[in-house]
Amino acid sequence: MKKTNWIATLLVSISIVCLIVSANASDHGKTRPIKKGILLVAFGTSISKAQISYQNIERAVRTRFPDIPIRWAYTSAFIREKLAKQGQPIDSVETALAKMMDEKFTHVAVQSLHTIAGWEFHDLHKNAMLFGDMAGGFDHIIVGNPLLAAESDFERVVDAFLKNIPTSRRKGDAVILMGHGTSHPSNAAYAALMYHFQRKDPHVFVGTVEGTPEITEIKEMLLTQNIKTAYLIPFMSVAGDHAMNDMAGEEEDSWKSILTQTGITCRPVLKGTAEYDEIVKIWVDHLKTALAQFQ
Ligand code: CO
Repeated sequence: MKKTNWIATLLVSISIVCLIVSANASDHGKTRPIKKGILLVAFGTSISKAQISYQNIERAVRTRFPDIPIRWAYTSAFIREKLAKQGQPIDSVETALAKMMDEKFTHVAVQSLHTIAGWEFHDLHKNAMLFGDMAGGFDHIIVGNPLLAAESDFERVVDAFLKNIPTSRRKGDAVILMGHGTSHPSNAAYAALMYHFQRKDPHVFVGTVEGTPEITEIKEMLLTQNIKTAYLIPFMSVAGDHAMNDMAGEEEDSWKSILTQTGITCRPVLKGTAEYDEIVKIWVDHLKTALAQFQ
C-alpha cells in the first residue's frame, strides 16, 4: 500500500469513529425516554384584557392534547420587557426551548400563533431548528404553520368570519378587517384574503396598519361603492394596542376617524381572532399536523 493511501484510509476511519462518538456524546450511549412537549409562540400582548385570546388558545390545545405539557413564549422583546417590569415575566422562544432541554423533552412541537408567515415566523423557525442540531438538543423539533399557510386556511378563515359578523349588520354595510401588515413578502396574504372574502361577500375588505392594502385604499373602495356604515374588526390574534388605538381610537389618524370624516359610520368590534373558536381550531389543526410527524 502506498503511504498516501494508507494515510487516507486512516483519516476516513478516524472520522467514522468520531461520528459514532458524537452521536452518542449527549447520552453516553443510552437512549433517553421520549418526552413530548408543546411550545405555543405568540407575538405577545401587554394588555391584560387581550390575554383572553391566548387563554382561549391554551384551553383548546389542552383539550385536544391533554397528555402533552404546554409551554409559552412571546417573540416580541418589547412586550417581554414591559411585562417583566410589571412583574409578569414571560420567556423568549430561545429561553423557553433551553428550559425544555433541561426538562429533558425529546420531541417538541413549536406552534406559531402568528397570522402569516412573516419575519417573526421565519426567525422562529430558524432558531427552533438550531435546537434540533445542537448537542443534547431535541431528537425532533418541528414548527407548526401560522394561521394563513395553505389555501384551505384562507377558506376556513373566511367562513369563520362570515359566521361571526355581528347580526346587527345590514345589507350593504361594509366589514373592514384590520391586519397587522409587514415589509415581508408574505404581506401579500392580506390582499389574497380580501380576494377570498369578496368571492363570498363583496362588502368585506381587508387592510393593514403597517403594510398594504392601506386604509386610504380601502376608504376609496368604500366611497366608490357608496357605503355608509362599516364594521371595523381586528384581524390579529388579540384585540390589543393596534385594535384599540389605530383602529378604534379617537386620534385623527385612526381608521375610525379617517372613515368618519368621510361620512361613514363606524362600528368597531374589539375582538381578537383567537376569540373565535373556529379560528383557534385552524391553529390547533396545524399543531396536530406538526405532532403527527413524531409518529
Ligand atoms: Co405592531
